[in-house]
Amino acid sequence: MIKEFYETTGDVSEAAAKHAMDVLQRSIDARGSATWVLAGGSSPMGAYKLIANQFADRLDWSKVNVLVGDERYVPLDHPDSNWGQISAALFHQSIDSVKKLTPAPMHGLDDMAADYVEQVAKLPRSAHGAPHFDLVWLGVGEDGHTLSLFPGRDIRSSAAEVIAIRDSPKPPPERITLSLQALAGAANVVVFATGAGKRNALAAAIRDGELPIAVVSSFASEHGAEVRWLFDASASEGMSR
Ligand code: 6PG
Repeated sequence: MIKEFYETTGDVSEAAAKHAMDVLQRSIDARGSATWVLAGGSSPMGAYKLIANQFADRLDWSKVNVLVGDERYVPLDHPDSNWGQISAALFHQSIDSVKKLTPAPMHGLDDMAADYVEQVAKLPRSAHGAPHFDLVWLGVGEDGHTLSLFPGRDIRSSAAEVIAIRDSPKPPPERITLSLQALAGAANVVVFATGAGKRNALAAAIRDGELPIAVVSSFASEHGAEVRWLFDASASEGMSR
């Protein structure tokens, strides 16, 4: 795992945005397409906006598949929808030509998860059969969760690539999320480690490796991903470097 330390959240946004442009371009050059898993929550919003405002003309976005790593069971135009929030920040002008896997809040949570499994199944696959994700962005909760994989739950044993979550401690309670197994073909993972509210969880994750963000990071790394945690000063205060 690579740790990068920045002063402000804005610096982290800029580093993440530039890294994304590099990774996606290299993937397009190598294979003709790229797949990017977007993170929900507020932490990556600055980076989405920066890409939309300043980097939109850097890529042929029609060659990029995008999906969100987890989604709340709400309509896409609901203020709580990760997809809705990301769309509003990122999908402008040429970026709107990306190929979108859209979570569909259908007749029930299990239908939504099953539909997303089918959409994910159509993505390019790695040699070992997992979806090949060129880049995965992850946020971190104050309790150390990432995606909608929460502490104190068995996040290791699901074989399905998308799972339904019914009692999320972070509202709203019903969600779908990529599973740990879905990340077995990730090539690059970026963790947004920003804000004083995340400091304790990040320190605990690094110390004992048990919190979901640590488990997901280690799993991806063990499966060959380059994993970068991007810290701002308030999240990394007191942390050894
Ligand atoms: C969600 C997210 C979740 C998020 C973290 C951090 O749907 O809630 O995907 O995993 O990334 O909770 O959220 P913030 O960036 O808003 O702190």
